[in-house]
Amino acid sequence: MSSITFAATERLWLLSTPNSAYALRLADDDTPTHVYWGAPLGLAEVTALPESRPRLISSFETVPDPDELAVAAGPRFGPPSLAVRFADGTTAVEWTCVGHEIDGNHLALRLTDRHYPLDVTLHYRVHDSDDVIERWTTVSAGEPITLSRLDSASWTMPGHRVSYVAGGWSAEYQVHRTEVPVAETVFTSRRGITSHQANPWVMLDAGDAGEDHGEVWSAALAWSGSWRLTLHRDPTDRVTCTGGFGHDGVSWQLAAGESLTSPVFAGVYTRDGFGAASRQWHGFVRAHVLPHPDELRPVLYNSWEATTFDVSEASQRALAEIAVSLGVELFVMDDGWFGARRSDMAGLGDWQPYPGAFPNGLRPLVDDVHRLGMLFGLWVEPEMVNPDSDLYRAHPDWVLHQENRRRTTLRNQLVLNFGRPDVLEWAFEWLDRLVTENGLDYFKWDCNRPFTEPGWPGHGDQLWIDHTRGVYSTMERLRAAHPGLRIEACSGGGGRTDMGIMTYTDQVWISDNTDAADRISIQHGYSQIYPAQTMGAWITDCPNPTTARTTPLLFRCHVAMAGVLAVGGNLTSWSASDRSLVAEQVALYRKIRSTVQHGRQYRLAHGPALTCVEYVSVDEAVVFGWRITEPFGHRPTPVRLAGLDPVARYEDSRNGVVYTGASLRERGIDLDLPRGDHASVVIRLRRVS
Ligand code: DGJ
Repeated sequence: MSSITFAATERLWLLSTPNSAYALRLADDDTPTHVYWGAPLGLAEVTALPESRPRLISSFETVPDPDELAVAAGPRFGPPSLAVRFADGTTAVEWTCVGHEIDGNHLALRLTDRHYPLDVTLHYRVHDSDDVIERWTTVSAGEPITLSRLDSASWTMPGHRVSYVAGGWSAEYQVHRTEVPVAETVFTSRRGITSHQANPWVMLDAGDAGEDHGEVWSAALAWSGSWRLTLHRDPTDRVTCTGGFGHDGVSWQLAAGESLTSPVFAGVYTRDGFGAASRQWHGFVRAHVLPHPDELRPVLYNSWEATTFDVSEASQRALAEIAVSLGVELFVMDDGWFGARRSDMAGLGDWQPYPGAFPNGLRPLVDDVHRLGMLFGLWVEPEMVNPDSDLYRAHPDWVLHQENRRRTTLRNQLVLNFGRPDVLEWAFEWLDRLVTENGLDYFKWDCNRPFTEPGWPGHGDQLWIDHTRGVYSTMERLRAAHPGLRIEACSGGGGRTDMGIMTYTDQVWISDNTDAADRISIQHGYSQIYPAQTMGAWITDCPNPTTARTTPLLFRCHVAMAGVLAVGGNLTSWSASDRSLVAEQVALYRKIRSTVQHGRQYRLAHGPALTCVEYVSVDEAVVFGWRITEPFGHRPTPVRLAGLDPVARYEDSRNGVVYTGASLRERGIDLDLPRGDHASVVIRLRRVS
């Protein structure tokens, strides 16, 4: 059980989760300051902790208590979490606490400025299901103010090594682990989308944590536009991480009576290593983020790599007929079906079926796919427009632009301003009509470029927030109007992966790189925070269109089966034996998917010689082993499994041998990978007693 308690004399709040505690108190000047975050402690223990006073080493070296939300005031020289300018030019904020409310597992701590009409509420929420603490901030102005920073929270993290992911298009989520410099380290996206290059989370440890041991403090932001996390290690070795939406240089005006609420920046403490931290995040996403966490995601076919822009009713029907024979349950027609979209040069924004390809509209194809017994999904890119489109010719002012400046095209497209109510109405109208008229079950919502010339003349920087909120509200409206509709988040692969978008979507296309060998590290990085039930993964053709690498079909199947399995190749050119191999693996996946999608995940090994991931549910464990390259012909040693009941007995599906959970944990299991590079295995261990 989680709880929030208040110690009135000490003016201290204790947030207790099943396996952690977090405490804050009001300093003498009413500043909310951080007290403790770590393993469980009771109220008596936390209130007895010595109150640290601002340390004055010299007039140049002051170290005030760590702030819950640092303002630019007094002797604070670190990165502010809240930066405000009042109408008379004052920028310092001085707090008076005006009260708090504890409503079940939610704490709202209410502050006001001592002099100016500025109200701020710090929010904290805990859950019984996990140790994640959600935090966010609301600011209300009683007179016009400029906000150049509104972070959701500042976390004080007693670790000096940071883990994070970085990458690029087709190379997302590569894990890095490095000592935090005594400096400010900024993780950010200025792109209007979460970005392929960075992802809004960090994990801190003392340099001694591993996959299954050691204390880890982590924080992740639920936001899909530009963002910034600033890690600050000061010369006294205190580490804080302040984070929220927006990036440097952006500012927002609030008129009198207006307020602004930040997204959630959640944190979790674990003492059993990075793997435990990941499982906490997976559980949190499942329990509190995803709209339909208990559904099993269907096996999907996507037409993109098969037909690219060369889409027609006949070609899609031919693919659908083969797809269903492989065991596919959801057929998704990708880009190229609308307007004048015969390449990426034209047509975006004109969302009527291309008559040359669909003379009678989409309905005949959708009906055929439904008759075959599959759901039907459609690719859309609502936020984008080609200059060569009827939409742009009619509404050139609808795109992000700045006066007297060029409009930069990327992939021959511009960004529609989803901060504009008329654009949102237009988008909802055609998306809603497409679902209603065609009986669609699923959208793949793509977004293939970042922002440039991010302007809406006369409207300031507000669009950075409003665009993202416009995407969210359109998805939310669509889901409300069509409760059966499911949505896939995509941004040229993994350009918009975060817990914000996951609130409105069901799964993510995590990378355009479908090369199984590369995919292993992409999936590894994704799994640090995000659960397998959201991780779309396709079996595609060789040589791979992105990397030109050739790998065995079974290896490609086994890598994709570790997430939400999908098929993405040109099925019409597959041999009968390839089809039957894939049909067999799809059938196996359908048996194990409740464990893969809803089980607990353990990363047992990660490296080119062996990556091994295990998923555990109540009655089975599924183990994937992949070898990219076999150095020196060495065979792997047994892999020790995790998460099993030591006294239960598990039967190995390959040979019927029964092991106890204890023996699988202590001695491990022989993977018996085939010899050579690009070898793989899937082992199912069913609990028999
Ligand atoms: C980028 C996506 O990631 C691909 O899967 C595909 O949908 C293309 N866009 C289509 O333009």
